[in-house]
Amino acid sequence: MSLQAPRQLLRRQLLQAGQKRVARAPYRCFSCSVRQTQQQQTPPKTPQDGPGTTHFGFETVAEALKEQKVGAVFSSVASSYDTMNDLMSLGIHRLWKDHFVRNLNPGRNPLTTPSSGEQGWNILDIAGGTGDIAFRMLDHASTINNDAHTRVTVADINPDMLAEGRKRALDTPYARSPRLKFVEANAEKLDMIADSSIDLYTVAFGIRNFTHKENAIREAFRVLKPGGVFACLEFSKVNNSVFDSFYKRWSFSAIPLIGQLVAGDRDSYQYLVESIERFPSQTEFRDMINDAGFLVPGQGWEDLTGGIAAIHKGVKPA
Ligand SMILES: C[S@@+](CC[C@H](N)C(=O)[O-])C[C@H]1O[C@@H](n2cnc3c(N)ncnc32)[C@H](O)[C@@H]1O
Repeated sequence: MSLQAPRQLLRRQLLQAGQKRVARAPYRCFSCSVRQTQQQQTPPKTPQDGPGTTHFGFETVAEALKEQKVGAVFSSVASSYDTMNDLMSLGIHRLWKDHFVRNLNPGRNPLTTPSSGEQGWNILDIAGGTGDIAFRMLDHASTINNDAHTRVTVADINPDMLAEGRKRALDTPYARSPRLKFVEANAEKLDMIADSSIDLYTVAFGIRNFTHKENAIREAFRVLKPGGVFACLEFSKVNNSVFDSFYKRWSFSAIPLIGQLVAGDRDSYQYLVESIERFPSQTEFRDMINDAGFLVPGQGWEDLTGGIAAIHKGVKPA
């Protein structure tokens, strides 16, 4: 039996379980979904997970099961991931990612950086999936900083997302270059990455899916060099109540529906919006970064589009 078979079996079982859940739910037409989504926009009132349990969207599940369920979601959405991102965010995710990378200014510009003997930056893009951040990093280093040495390792737990990334890399100048590497890895246990070896650790729209976010942040701290930067782009909390109520209606009604129509998968997109709602607020997440030992510059984050997303940063003390 191939190694793929157990994974496919598990994926089928998880998707069937999800379909059963949908089958029991009342039919939701788009025009009536606004009324029905009212009760679905906030997680159940059990914010603390019990021992051995965690949340998967609004569901409480055994910790051991979350990773498999998240895996099933991303295996299911991998091939339609880019199209869906564009539809769900009206293309705005591209602007956020551009801003994220521009702001980090990856690469060692030989004209402005005093020579330290090191060539380029060693970047780790965690939960890098289809390579969106990695390609931007390499483009920026090459064209803005004239740096042909900066390299990016894209690490992701999901082989299907990595396969999409490798496929997309074929359309870039980095496909067969030692500057780009894809590795299958769990962000919570990066044994293959040496201590203090990374200049920049990025994670975009990934960390809310991790079972133990604190472990992942601690691993980021371990692998970063002193002075290295942890940078996270993630959905966050909208800070205007009128905008927030409009945004929640859009996300809880339109996104699962678009998922159903375009990708034939309502449940995965229902999970995505629920996981956004579950993610800690800007201040809570800033404190988690601080607690792991990072220095947090300024207030610690920058809101994007009224707080729909936010960029958090931490610097490992030198
Ligand atoms: C929403 S996608 C983001 C992909 C990409 N960073 C982007 O911005 O388009 C989330 C990614 O997180 C990955 N992921 C989830 N849990 C993970 C974990 N524990 N370790 C590493 N990657 C994980 C998923 O496989 C998926 O590729």
